Amino acid sequence: MLTEILLRIHAARLTRRYLTPKGSSVYSPPQPDSKAQYLLYIHIPFCEELCPFCSFLRVKFEPSLAKAYFDALKKEINTYHNLGYRFNSIYVGGGTPTIVPDKLADIVLHAKSLWPIDQVSVETNPSHLTDDILAVLKDIGTNRLSVGVQSFDDRVLKSVQRYDKYGSGQQIRQKLSSVVGMFDTLNVDMIFNFPNQTAEMLTADVRIIKEIKADQVTWYPLIISKSRKQQIATSCGRMNFRRERRLYDMLTEELADTYNAESVWCFSNRPGLIDEYPVSHDDYAGLGAGSMGYVNGALCFNTFSIPEYIRMIEEDRSPVLSIRNFSPVEKMRFGLLLKLLTGSTSLSAMKAKYGKHFVLHLWKELLFLLVTRSAVFRNGNIVLTAKGRYYWLSIMSTLFATLGDYRDIHTPPPVLSKTTKNTPQPNQTKP
Ligand SMILES: C[S@@+](CC[C@H](N)C(=O)[O-])C[C@H]1O[C@@H](n2cnc3c(N)ncnc32)[C@H](O)[C@@H]1O
Ligand code: SF4
Repeated sequence: MLTEILLRIHAARLTRRYLTPKGSSVYSPPQPDSKAQYLLYIHIPFCEELCPFCSFLRVKFEPSLAKAYFDALKKEINTYHNLGYRFNSIYVGGGTPTIVPDKLADIVLHAKSLWPIDQVSVETNPSHLTDDILAVLKDIGTNRLSVGVQSFDDRVLKSVQRYDKYGSGQQIRQKLSSVVGMFDTLNVDMIFNFPNQTAEMLTADVRIIKEIKADQVTWYPLIISKSRKQQIATSCGRMNFRRERRLYDMLTEELADTYNAESVWCFSNRPGLIDEYPVSHDDYAGLGAGSMGYVNGALCFNTFSIPEYIRMIEEDRSPVLSIRNFSPVEKMRFGLLLKLLTGSTSLSAMKAKYGKHFVLHLWKELLFLLVTRSAVFRNGNIVLTAKGRYYWLSIMSTLFATLGDYRDIHTPPPVLSKTTKNTPQPNQTKP
């Protein structure tokens, strides 16, 4: 427990350091490598209702704001095209990307007209699994659909205010069953360790996932950024980190007869089916408000203010809020973090990417893994042990919680006016 606490403290500190801009005084998208193929991440920050636990950038849906936002997105896509970026896959995340289906189709088809894109992933909610929306998703060539469910237990769904919006566990289950097989991959997003979720509820959720025969399930631990702590406590009780490990071990064990652990929290029914873009793609560009990109060792965030994002794009200014150009060692550490998210990585591949002194530069990290028995070296690979997988889950959830805090610091309060132009916004200056 002590090691885990220290690890979380260290991970939070490192994340805060990596979020501090460095090495660039001009905030514009990084120059692409002309030979590279990148993934295009597009953020759609609108939701019909806001879940109390969610620390992603999301605001309540407002049609006029959304229209201006989609127009701005299209323009930002053109900017990346003019800069010479080449994309072969798109990931549309949110918020709720399917909130205005024809606008989603418009931007995906626009990107497809600019680049030879062969992979399209879209996130959605259970209430959007309607014939009309599914037809749009098929038309735009969606390969992977990811549906946020969180839990099938009605008590949990009610407490996190998703029951009225997205239906009961039974209704969600029926909708998912009817969608299985429609796309190359149907992923279901789940959460464990809600304060009011028991081990029995979790076991029942695992059983339902298997019965539905979802291709993939991504089972996150509940991640709490500072600003969500109170909301979670009010809606479903006080967080208990102590049982997280026990629930995680139980989950991984119960999923093991049907799913391969492709990452510490992503389980697939086909070996090698990993649809986590930061793992499958070394580099990706983030478009839209609050999106994060990582290109050629530069970690880049767009402004978290939606009206500011729209205004900057309309004025032909870059919406980039901050850039950190990683040092060579920072690149190695970040690379190791993401590769080990899958549970193992080849030492020779790391040396080929980061140079033959990779081990010398990261000796402290590698020694930690060995001394704490979090990893073993086997056949030229670094392989996480069961304990190491849980540590990695803790590091990743700390990273996301710290990112959530960063987002909250830079997110202005909601805008009440319906007009987006000339609306004064706090946080307009760049750090
Ligand atoms: C940001 S949502 C976007 C897609 C969609 N709106 C939804 O509700 O699923 C993607 C997924 O992130 C996960 N997520 C969001 N907030 C989280 C948190 N605080 N802790 C753990 N997972 C979280 C949920 O599983 C969610 O389904
Ligand atoms: S979990 Fe999904 S629906 Fe809920 S607020 Fe976050 S993005 Fe919106």
